[in-house]
Amino acid sequence: MSAPSAPGGPGPGVPDPQELLALADQTATAAATLLAEEGAQQRPEVAATKSSLTDVVTEMDRRAEQLIRQRILAARPGDTILGEEGGEIGGTAGPGAARWVVDPLDGTINYLYGLADWSVSIAAEVDGVIVAGVVAIPLRGETYLAARGHGATVRTATGQATAAGRSGPAEGQRGSAGPALCCNRGVPLAQALVGTGFGYLSGRRRVQGQVVSALLPRIRDIRRGGSAAVDLCSVAAGRLDAFYERGLNPWDYSAGGLIAEEAGALVTGLGGRPASPAFTVAAGPGLYQELIEALTALDPERDADPE
Ligand code: IPD
Ligand code: CA
Ligand code: CA
Repeated sequence: MSAPSAPGGPGPGVPDPQELLALADQTATAAATLLAEEGAQQRPEVAATKSSLTDVVTEMDRRAEQLIRQRILAARPGDTILGEEGGEIGGTAGPGAARWVVDPLDGTINYLYGLADWSVSIAAEVDGVIVAGVVAIPLRGETYLAARGHGATVRTATGQATAAGRSGPAEGQRGSAGPALCCNRGVPLAQALVGTGFGYLSGRRRVQGQVVSALLPRIRDIRRGGSAAVDLCSVAAGRLDAFYERGLNPWDYSAGGLIAEEAGALVTGLGGRPASPAFTVAAGPGLYQELIEALTALDPERDADPE
């Protein structure tokens, strides 16, 4: 459990975001290593479908989540965990406890096809506020980290992790964290490279297709990477100017949202609401307002009837 608070740190009994970040980092690194090693050995198979035939889960999603749950609860038995595959375990987090929001494998479709953009996303929440977040992207050899109020960084693995090689960093093998990340600022909408994603239900996708086709002529280009957590880190790192998606779950955006925010991006929903499953937008200052206005005019928080 928590060590005594450092001067200027959280009050007694309140979990220290830096300690939570360290645990999230070790745990995400271990899960990412497991996924990368197994994925490199054999092509993963679909174990089951969830909300639709396109919404799949592999045995590796489940094994990664099991590893994450075991590691976090071994270190902090009083905490609660919301994981995509296993739901919420542990009830309401008591005083001094944290709630963990976990996507053990974000970008399952990319993982299934041997594409590089998939990640392990772990966020820690205290009193309803996300205070630490880690997104590990092993085939890029990158781990993004942020603690609220302390900025965001990326640690790059030492040399051996490449998309082509499909090999992640060995556990405990760490590269160095770079300087604080800073998102792109002052980009006009017409020059913005915007990431987005699509849900798994056909009615939702129909509207998402309409929204993206109306936005596309007004921006530099669109990217659909396949992992919302990676997309949010790309905003933090300046590889995308902005990202938006309807229908994400808290495990998709909690860690990446904090990382983007700590890199200077605005991360919200529409109409002044916080980011939520209804809508999530992340963009640097200067672009954010123009993008929010363009999206709002397209009424993107709706779904068509399923086919
Ligand atoms: C999905 C990815 C994808 C986004 C979907 C998510 P999953 O998560 O983040 O980029 O467009 O909405 O559900 O299913 O790979 O964990
Ligand atoms: Ca996800
Ligand atoms: Ca997932």
